[in-house]
Amino acid sequence: MFEQLKEQPADKILALMAAYREDPRDDKIDLGVGVYKDAEGKTPIMRAIKAAEKQLWEAEETKSYTGLAGDPGFADAMVSLVLGDAVARGSVAAAATPGGTGAVRQAFDLIKMANPNARVFVSDPTWPNHLSILKHMNIEHVPYRYFDAETGGVNFDGMMADLANVKAGDVVLLHGCCHNPTGANLTLPQWQEVVDLLNKTGAVPMIDIAYQGFGDGLEADAAATRLVASSCPEVLIAASCSKNFGIYRERTGLLMAVSSDPAKFKVNQGTLSYLNRQNFSFPPDHGARLVTMVLNDPALRADWEAELEEVRLGMLRLRQALADELRTLSGSDRFGFLAQHRGMFSRLGVGPDKVEAMREKHGIYMVGDSRMNIAGLNDMTIPKLAKAIIDVGC
Ligand code: LMR
Repeated sequence: MFEQLKEQPADKILALMAAYREDPRDDKIDLGVGVYKDAEGKTPIMRAIKAAEKQLWEAEETKSYTGLAGDPGFADAMVSLVLGDAVARGSVAAAATPGGTGAVRQAFDLIKMANPNARVFVSDPTWPNHLSILKHMNIEHVPYRYFDAETGGVNFDGMMADLANVKAGDVVLLHGCCHNPTGANLTLPQWQEVVDLLNKTGAVPMIDIAYQGFGDGLEADAAATRLVASSCPEVLIAASCSKNFGIYRERTGLLMAVSSDPAKFKVNQGTLSYLNRQNFSFPPDHGARLVTMVLNDPALRADWEAELEEVRLGMLRLRQALADELRTLSGSDRFGFLAQHRGMFSRLGVGPDKVEAMREKHGIYMVGDSRMNIAGLNDMTIPKLAKAIIDVGC
């Protein structure tokens, strides 16, 4: 049997992590994988999470199974964090998943089950693993224009022209905030136009929200997702706790299926539980429990929100510093978009030859499509990166 297996293509982001580790240069800079790093290059455990972990260690009395959809308290807390009061709780079926990726995977499984002919429209570019999972599951995907390399912003006219081709039953995958990999995002009026188009065509929106709190703040980052959830009859939402709670390895995410028809709740909830059972049975609980404790305890929550805000503002400051440095070196405003982008990433919009030159010549590691993790920078490395960007002719 095993002789039938072929070598699989390496995941580009994870391969870059390995290449960085092997590079012996002391002054190398890692702008690869989407993991938050502080000025010392460390990925800290957030204070509220550490405190919740201590409390949990004292109080937890069993490690027996939770429900197939995870602890209902986790779903309640996360639905409220992501959706606020945009929709009635009773319209949201929800199940815990192993990370945001698990939620994405379960959503695709649900789509396939509901409509084997559904096509999934994806932004060009999107997170490479969206494409990899769709391909693995044999689901047709159709790219829609998104990034404008000239301006560093969104090509909204191109996006709307491409989305005009969706049909009823197709799914349109959208990044709720902090678009990965570009950092370029729609304005709320543009989201409204997307909603109108989806409702006109009968296509179903699926939102991947993995960076709530990293862009313009916890509430502002959820605004688009809330607009879609309250305006479209059916919505899938894959939420991740990896980044905003800093619990990457705990694999904590939630898949939500929102329906404006209350009669659909029971079947939707049952489907999410069924799919969990088929794929991994019970979802991991440790991270979910910590998130629930943090969200439900006013003191822990206030501390978490304060630390998340420090992280967000720190990344905004780094963006501005990089844009300023590049303005000085290039004598132009052509890198001003870096300060406009939001979230952990920015796409420079240059070709792989320049990305490779930055790696070879300057030890700067960014993903091949010129995505940079802004949190990988600090005040010392910004001048070096800016010089390298100009040096390789960007
Ligand atoms: C990323 O885009 O770098 C992160 O979401 C990590 C991952 O799993 O790819």
